[in-house]
Parts: sequence; structure tokens; C-alpha cells
Amino acid sequence: MKKIKLFSEITVFDSLDELDNGTKKLMEQAIAAREMAYAPYSHFRVGAALLLDNGITVTGNNQENAAFPSGLCAERVAIYAAGAQYPENVILKMAISARSENHKLDKPIPPCGACRQAIAEYEIKQHKNIEIYFMGETGEVYKSDSLADLLPLLFAPDNL
Ligand code: THU
Repeated sequence: MKKIKLFSEITVFDSLDELDNGTKKLMEQAIAAREMAYAPYSHFRVGAALLLDNGITVTGNNQENAAFPSGLCAERVAIYAAGAQYPENVILKMAISARSENHKLDKPIPPCGACRQAIAEYEIKQHKNIEIYFMGETGEVYKSDSLADLLPLLFAPDNL
């Protein structure tokens, strides 16, 4: 018997203003997308913006449904849109912001497990890490250099 230690590293920025200009702009696009979310049930709005290697930004936001499981998170709306429209391009960065209509979110909101799994697929497919920046409505921004930092021991295509 033995134990394995898993190591993940996150960079913490005090606020949006501490990001470099390009990343700040990407987060602002995620915030703009967040405000267009369709979230009449949870009142919890999430926006995601992806920067591709061709300079194009693809955004997404959560889309809810009266049949609750039929809705989809912002991160998957964005990454599936990028996969559908730019299948040959590399995703360099993803910025995510969440805002609740019920209370102030001042802590970073990480992508849910299902979204991590979906993002992992693209990181593996493109053989390049995706930088992920996430925040609430205000406050600190967390950055992981790779999705792998957010999902250790992921189920991957080579497990099939
Ligand atoms: N949501 C996202 O869009 N991304 C996440 O990573 C977590 C949750 C959405 C799904 C649902 O519309 C609402 O937030 C509340 O769970």
C-alpha cells in the first residue's frame, strides 16, 4: 500500500485590475456574456469567454430550461461553440465570471465538475494547456495554468 500526493497550483490576483490588459479584456467579455445569460430559475448568471489562437473570442453563458437538466453551463456553451465553429484552432485562455441576483459573489466561482471534464477533452485534443481564469462578481481572480490543475486524475480518452 502507498499514498500518492497530487499537486495543484493556483495563482491568485487581487482583482481584475491586476490582470494583464489582454486577459482583463477577455474577463470583461465574460462579464458581458454573463449579463446575457438565460437564468430565470437559479438567478445565477455565469459568463465564459475563450481566446483562440486566431485572435477570435468565443463567448457563452448559462442557458437554463424549465426541464432543469436540459440547461447547460456557460463554460460548456462556450467551449462547444468554439469546438463547433473553430475545430482546427487552439484555445489559449478561458475567463469565467459569475453573479448571483440574490447575494454578492465576492469569491472566485470555479467551473463545475462536468464543465471541467468537458474542458479537459479540448485540452487533450489540442495538445496544449488552456489557462483558466475565474472570479465571482468582484474580488479575487484565480488562475490555473491548465485544466489538469482543476481536475487531477481525470478520465481521459486513453482510459477507454
Ligand atoms: N453554472 C454554470 O454556468 N457554470 C458552472 O460551472 C456552475 C453552474 C450555471 C448552471 C445553472 O444555470 C446555474 O449556474 C446554477 O447552477
